[in-house]
Amino acid sequence: MGPRIVVVGSLNMDLVIKTPRIPAVGETVLGEEFHTYPGGKGANQAVASARLGAEVFMVGRVGKDTFGRELLQSVASKGVDTRFVLEDPVHATGVAFIAVDGSGNNAIVVAPGANMHVSPADVDQAEEVMKDARALILQLEIPIETVLYTAQIAKNHGVPVILDPAPAAPLPARMYELVDVLVPNEHEAEVLTGIPIHGPEEARDAARILQERGVPVVIVKLGPSGALLMGPSGVHHVPGVPVQAVDTTAAGDAFAGGFAVALAEGKDLLEATRFANYVGALSVTRMGAQPSMPAREEVEQFIAERS
Ligand code: RIB
Repeated sequence: MGPRIVVVGSLNMDLVIKTPRIPAVGETVLGEEFHTYPGGKGANQAVASARLGAEVFMVGRVGKDTFGRELLQSVASKGVDTRFVLEDPVHATGVAFIAVDGSGNNAIVVAPGANMHVSPADVDQAEEVMKDARALILQLEIPIETVLYTAQIAKNHGVPVILDPAPAAPLPARMYELVDVLVPNEHEAEVLTGIPIHGPEEARDAARILQERGVPVVIVKLGPSGALLMGPSGVHHVPGVPVQAVDTTAAGDAFAGGFAVALAEGKDLLEATRFANYVGALSVTRMGAQPSMPAREEVEQFIAERS
């Protein structure tokens, strides 16, 4: 069994249409095929971590409905322990509408449903397993009070807190003091700092601002341009891995899971960022959120072929 990772976050059913292009406001576009895929940033990160060999506990909520049952089954079948995923008696399972264009780019709208009712009391139930975890991963598709509460519990137990600040939203000042590693993408880094990010240069400026707010390690994900790591030992630009992108949905989640597993296994920050970069790149070569998360052996082989 690999190192223990706890993910507190969202589970969504993704309703996905492949389309020649993302529609503009007021426009209707004739798309291609329609698919449902298990998704949700939290569940994607949990599945990514489990596929890479970690022992993963997920904390969250689904509705008492068909999507909820399907999600629980699917996440568990990938090796995630779902005993702390509650069935909300009132609210429906979260759903995401996703349009994916010919280059693999996407536009997403989420109806969070039960995810927005994940409470500190839900998290309390998982404290027993959390205190022995090697990493906690959080995102922003559940209430911010619960995110803060969870980060504080992890901090109390000395568990490293990784926050993927997605979907983008300004963070309370206290959040920066509780997070050990912040992993925004370009858009999220811009929302947090006001700096438009076009590449590693601006990412470095944004990372510095975020570090000054109290986060020791900031990794700005730069899509095909890789990632910018700013940590105690300095700044590194990890270049992108060229791939044929089919669907970029959940690439950031694959990155977060890959980073958490590598860190939990004892890799240093740069090694963990490189590993995460490969996991993210491999995930965009496949359709869907959770179905695109690669197994450990696939990642090892992918890295070996490129070294
Ligand atoms: O990060 C990708 C995820 O964002 C999708 O799976 C969708 O459910 C939304 O949460």
